[in-house]
Amino acid sequence: MCGIFGVVGQEKNAAQKVLAGLKRLEYRGYDSWGIAVKKNNGLIRERHVGKIGGAVTKLPASTIGLGHTRWATHGGVTEGNAHPHFDCNQKLCLVHNGIVENFLELKAKLTGHKFLSQTDTEVALHLFESVGLMAGFKQVVGMNAFILLDSANDQLLAVKNGSPLIIGLGKNANYIASDVWALLDHTNQVIFLEDGQAVKITQAKVEVTEAKSGKIIKPKITTLNWQAEQSRLGKFHHYMEKEIYDQPKVLDNLSRLSPPAIKPSSKTFILGCGTASYAALFADYLFDLSGMDVEAVVGSEFQKYQQLLKPNQAMILFSQSGETIDVVEAVNLAKAKGLRIIGITNVLGSTLYRKSDQKILLGAGQEVAVASTKAFTAMLAVGLLLNKKPLQNVAASVRRLLDGPTRNQVKQLATKLKDREHIFVVGRGQDYPIALEAALKIKEVSYIHAEAYAAGEIKHGPIALIENGTPCLVFGNATNAAYEMKARGGLIIGIGYIPDKVFDNYFPVADLAEASAIPMIVIAQLLAYDLAVARGLNPDKPRNLAKSVTVK
Ligand code: G6P
Repeated sequence: MCGIFGVVGQEKNAAQKVLAGLKRLEYRGYDSWGIAVKKNNGLIRERHVGKIGGAVTKLPASTIGLGHTRWATHGGVTEGNAHPHFDCNQKLCLVHNGIVENFLELKAKLTGHKFLSQTDTEVALHLFESVGLMAGFKQVVGMNAFILLDSANDQLLAVKNGSPLIIGLGKNANYIASDVWALLDHTNQVIFLEDGQAVKITQAKVEVTEAKSGKIIKPKITTLNWQAEQSRLGKFHHYMEKEIYDQPKVLDNLSRLSPPAIKPSSKTFILGCGTASYAALFADYLFDLSGMDVEAVVGSEFQKYQQLLKPNQAMILFSQSGETIDVVEAVNLAKAKGLRIIGITNVLGSTLYRKSDQKILLGAGQEVAVASTKAFTAMLAVGLLLNKKPLQNVAASVRRLLDGPTRNQVKQLATKLKDREHIFVVGRGQDYPIALEAALKIKEVSYIHAEAYAAGEIKHGPIALIENGTPCLVFGNATNAAYEMKARGGLIIGIGYIPDKVFDNYFPVADLAEASAIPMIVIAQLLAYDLAVARGLNPDKPRNLAKSVTVK
């Protein structure tokens, strides 16, 4: 949630570098943005409401600057609430990721300060103005990352607890950002700052310390083998489209992995949030059917298990970003109770990655579109691998769908459905999580109300909503529900490998046993994308959403 980026270099292009960094980070939040640079021992900033888009900056030449792209938590979407914030004397400026939970308490004690915004960030800044960053940080409650620029120095100071901060070691310049993807244009040498650590960054030096004691720490430098090119748009119109088309390659790579094995445990919880929770549920079906005691839970509801956790249990977590706060909190709770953590994530060095005892990388490359596609199918593939299900032919079957006549047939269906208010989606068994994900994808990017049910449940209430022409997506072997909905006038759209006369439209996929879930969801991803485009929406940045939800 929110992207932050800072640079200290030799060249006087800090504002341009910060702007480019923010463009890379925009998927973390895109309701407003701002940049500040140091100029002649003073600070100059610009702040704007709305997406960055193709913005250019007119800030003066400077070697040091920082910026922020916002997803509002405290205070509305206004220029005044956008970061960077200034202190009373306009000598300090701050960008912040997270929530200062005790901001009202802190504000009450900060007498004599001028507050110009409704944000918790500005409260933190006035606190730092009064007592200094490190002393102030000790008083802040919550999961936060701060970067402070003091116009008196040529350095950036940063400190974190919970929210991610990564330092990039560049040539004649050092960087700091809330996401590794923003650093790849400059370097592949990074330091993942740990909770409770602080850093002083100058053009020549990076000094990491323990925030509480000030003790200097020798940080671990990680060399990334990723390339920024992976995230360029190429011939595609949107990142969502590009990422749908990235899937055959990602799946191909995963199919070459030797299946990771999980140590037996008395019980295993399997978690994720949003799309990742459906990947967790899919894997849960496979584990349960193989006789393993696994329970799927959404990350935000895990706290209810706290009395039931025991050291001989395990927890498997799916998270594209590895930073989702509800996932991180579940991990913290499980670790405290001695559970073994198996983290499945797309981001090496992410919080989940670092906290896991067993780490499995999705290898999907950067996912820029807010709505997850290739990371989801990579998660399904890992779920299949963990259950010893083969992935042969999966990549090829997806490639056929993308390159063959199906692509246009989905577009035509989207044209037909684009003005509908409701779409119902059903699936049975391990296809049920696929139905849930299909409905989520449609909702997220097209804003059409799409609702998924386990096929057997449709007759227990939702069928009351089926009218003449109501679109009903039916995944896999859920023909009973299809006939029930058809009898009430539903327009039945089948996606699966068993044709049936009940289908008004039918999208066949290869019969790959449980792995057919992957080509099936690809068809739904295309439909969601086409619906968004047909409705004139930008599928990459849906309203109100952010890709990485690092606040509660
Ligand atoms: C946000 C995103 C979703 C995503 C979820 C979990 O809500 O908008 O697309 O599925 O977070 O993200 P994660 O990075 O943990 O997979």
